[in-house]
Amino acid sequence: MPVISFANSKGGSGKTTSALVIACELAEAADVILIDADPRRPLIGWSQLSKPPAGLRVVSSGGEKTIQDEIEDAAAEAPFVLIDLEGMASQLATFAMTASDLVIVPAQEQHQDAQAALDTLGAVKRAGRAARREIPAAVLLTRTRAAVKSRTARHIGDQLRKLEGVHVIGPELVERDAYAALFSSGGGLRQLDPQEVNGIEKAILNATAISKEIIKILRGGQEATA
Ligand SMILES: Nc1ncnc2c1ncn2[C@@H]1O[C@H](COP(=O)(O)OP(=O)(O)OP(=O)(O)O)[C@@H](O)[C@H]1O
Ligand SMILES: [Mg+2]
Repeated sequence: MPVISFANSKGGSGKTTSALVIACELAEAADVILIDADPRRPLIGWSQLSKPPAGLRVVSSGGEKTIQDEIEDAAAEAPFVLIDLEGMASQLATFAMTASDLVIVPAQEQHQDAQAALDTLGAVKRAGRAARREIPAAVLLTRTRAAVKSRTARHIGDQLRKLEGVHVIGPELVERDAYAALFSSGGGLRQLDPQEVNGIEKAILNATAISKEIIKILRGGQEATA
């Protein structure tokens, strides 16, 4: 029944990619409903390319007036509900965060992304205050280099990890062709053609590691409050 939102007010930080990769991974073991709450409907578009993996259903949100009902209905139907939000602060995003058991804040190791991640963590905290509960939140570093990182990238990751009250998920969503390829081919990582896409196995291992940590956070095994 956990509800997980993917939020960062900065566009292009990796929300949709992370939401999709993690949704596919969780769908290996349980039913997942992925709510596409971005008016541009990137995940609805993805779901129309080819058959989504069994266990994963993508639904479109009708917007801020209906998102709360949509989340409640989805949570009654599936063990996992994931919500992909658009890249800007909005009432819809606040409603989704307030209904979430965990807000994942994807961020690239760039100054603007990190800054927007902190703004988003602040928004999660305020939503929690209004709801009189603490809403767990965690940063997921995205599009990171598998090999040697630049000094700037390392510095930004280190700075985020040092901040009190900020939890950064250990495994990062490394920059891989396989993740980008999902949006042109449809399906999940396991449906990609190894003749056409490199590094599928590594991409799956990476997705599994991230999903495991998310489950751990949801079970309360890790301090994750913004
Ligand atoms: N780990 C990754 N490996 C390769 N490409 C990636 C990865 N993460 C994101 N991308 C690419 O980066 C771009 C932006 O990612 P994505 O659409 O997930 O960001 P977003 O935060 O959802 O953006 P928006 O705010 O516009 O909704 C896309 O072209 C996507 O394919
Ligand atoms: Mg997106």
